[in-house]
Amino acid sequence: MNELISRPRRNRRTESLRSLLRETQLAPADFILPLFLCPGTNKVEPIGSLPGVNRYSCDRLIEKIKSSVATGVKAFALFPAIETSKKDPTAREASNPDGLLPQSIAKIKSAVPEALLITDVAMDPYSSDGHDGLVKDGKILNDESLEILASMALTQARAGADIVAPSDMMDGRVAYLRRALDAEGFQDVGILAYTAKYASAFYGPFRDALDSAPKHGDKKTYQMDPANRREALREAQLDAAEGADMLMVKPALAYLDIISDLKQNTHLPIAAYQVSGEYAMIKAAAERGWLNERAAFVESLTSIKRAGADVILSYFADTLFE
Ligand code: PBG
Repeated sequence: MNELISRPRRNRRTESLRSLLRETQLAPADFILPLFLCPGTNKVEPIGSLPGVNRYSCDRLIEKIKSSVATGVKAFALFPAIETSKKDPTAREASNPDGLLPQSIAKIKSAVPEALLITDVAMDPYSSDGHDGLVKDGKILNDESLEILASMALTQARAGADIVAPSDMMDGRVAYLRRALDAEGFQDVGILAYTAKYASAFYGPFRDALDSAPKHGDKKTYQMDPANRREALREAQLDAAEGADMLMVKPALAYLDIISDLKQNTHLPIAAYQVSGEYAMIKAAAERGWLNERAAFVESLTSIKRAGADVILSYFADTLFE
């Protein structure tokens, strides 16, 4: 007879035992659902490369938010699809208080006061160049972009955004936004910094959804090199020192080491964004019958949480707890 004393399999014997010993749980309160907003009324527009995700006009978006809140997911990251005619090189529409996003924030807040609204700060959905910052002679200008981003963040805060989320990766933006928000009395508006945002191939479907792909060049002079790990810690130190309230890693699944590093090296809450390409991969394989959709996304999200994410942005957040 074999005389094994330690038998790890003893703890895996039944589901009741496994659930008792499970180290990582997914709870609706930890999720942020990204949502795409379009102009008009009674519109639900499917997005080809994101099956199951739609662009909603504000009235339909409010319904979507209500049904999500009913499942316990109460935080939303809002992304507006701006008409091409309203895009220009300086993203002026981003600071228009009568624009699609500010008007919608106010309506959502009055219809669903408990919804936590997080707004993206970056020029790309509004820029005719499709870049997150201001382009001059083929270069992305840093300090000149900050002014535009601050005016965008203030427009969102005035409309009622709870948290602004700079996703632009310009240097010094967290401090710049914090100062601008505080100067107008928005001390309570939080900053969720896209701290370690990589120049990733996994953003493709998102750019389809907003028609926001760069018209020329790529984002490698501001988004991080996927090969770099220590640089994420440098970004984290800066964002923390500049007053960020939460730090984000993006994408998530290919960057679990970065999530873990940030969790261990800072005391701020860590968010991770399971981006559009991560969603689309699972959807596409499941549509072909190549893997079980729910099992695959639960496993993927569990690994993101296990790596150290306190908060997860996911396009699966609405179906996860249905
Ligand atoms: C815009 C922005 C992007 C995403 C979130 N905010 C795209 C990009 O940086 O090109 C990607 C989200 C996703 O792929 O789900 N600054």
